[in-house]
Amino acid sequence: MVIVGASGQLGGDLMDAFADIAPIGLEHSTFDIEQPAAITTMLLRQKPDVVINTAAFHNVELCETHPDRAFAINALAVDQLAAQCAAANVTLAHVSTDYVFDGDTSQPYAESDPARPLSAYGISKYAGELLIARNTSRAFVFRTSGLYGTRGSSAKGYTFIERMLAQAAAGKPLRVVDDVTFSPSYTRHVAVAIRRVIQTERYGTYHVTNAGACTWYAFAQEIFRQANVAADLSRTTQASFPSLARRPRYSALAHNALLRLGLPELPDWRQGIREYLGARAA
Ligand SMILES: NC(=O)c1ccc[n+]([C@@H]2O[C@H](COP(=O)([O-])OP(=O)(O)OC[C@H]3O[C@@H](n4cnc5c(N)ncnc54)[C@H](OP(=O)(O)O)[C@@H]3O)[C@@H](O)[C@H]2O)c1
Repeated sequence: MVIVGASGQLGGDLMDAFADIAPIGLEHSTFDIEQPAAITTMLLRQKPDVVINTAAFHNVELCETHPDRAFAINALAVDQLAAQCAAANVTLAHVSTDYVFDGDTSQPYAESDPARPLSAYGISKYAGELLIARNTSRAFVFRTSGLYGTRGSSAKGYTFIERMLAQAAAGKPLRVVDDVTFSPSYTRHVAVAIRRVIQTERYGTYHVTNAGACTWYAFAQEIFRQANVAADLSRTTQASFPSLARRPRYSALAHNALLRLGLPELPDWRQGIREYLGARAA
């Protein structure tokens, strides 16, 4: 098995989740998914049975100003990876996003619900999904949401939890959005769920997020409650943060495909925070 983006927050936890089979982890510094020749060499040298791709250009604001970069990494490179995996009879497992949906609902999205991405990021990630489907049926697409892990997001350099705790420790007042609902997800839980699904060899699209959903404000409130930190926290709206990108205002994901396989849902989002804080303290 090869894991692309192995030093990222999800990639690192996937390396741990598959540790017993000693996956080969590829970091950006030594493997660039945008180079077709690098993909060819990787498949020839490593002869993987499965390639998991976590690499992405996922700074949502930068994707708006650099849609060419978003499409190069999130769509065209994925097309090339899928084509070469198909030709080599290799299974592709690819990580996608809740931002493929427009958020115009109040019910968790099923895997089969129509995608209507609003942002350049979401459009490029959905294009990646479609391009996989044109190349191969031997693929998994895992849509996840609001990731945080102990390694931190390499794109952002921090997680929401760390930013909240640092700002509270500095005594800063915190205004957090209370009109956007999603499923914050702990990368260790997501990695374990991805492993369970891959082992079934039942290809397709899966939603892998912690169970339940909350607003960013409720997420922050729960972080402070569990960390036993008194914070000066107040509610605000998405509109109060000027942004280039349009984001779904509701993006909880239902886990129908996991349940159809008889696999358990991921733990509740509050349990994700609990285990993250425990791992961080350790
Ligand atoms: N973070 C979220 O909240 C979130 C939510 C929903 C879905 N997702 C999806 O989940 C996946 C993993 O996200 P994450 O938060 O774990 O991201 P991450 O921490 O930024 O990790 C991504 C990894 O991919 C590497 N990478 C970037 N461009 C590459 C390229 N051209 N070739 C090879 N490697 C490259 C990065 O390396 P460098 O940092 O060295 O460039 C990084 O190690 C992504 O597909 C993302 O779209 C994320």
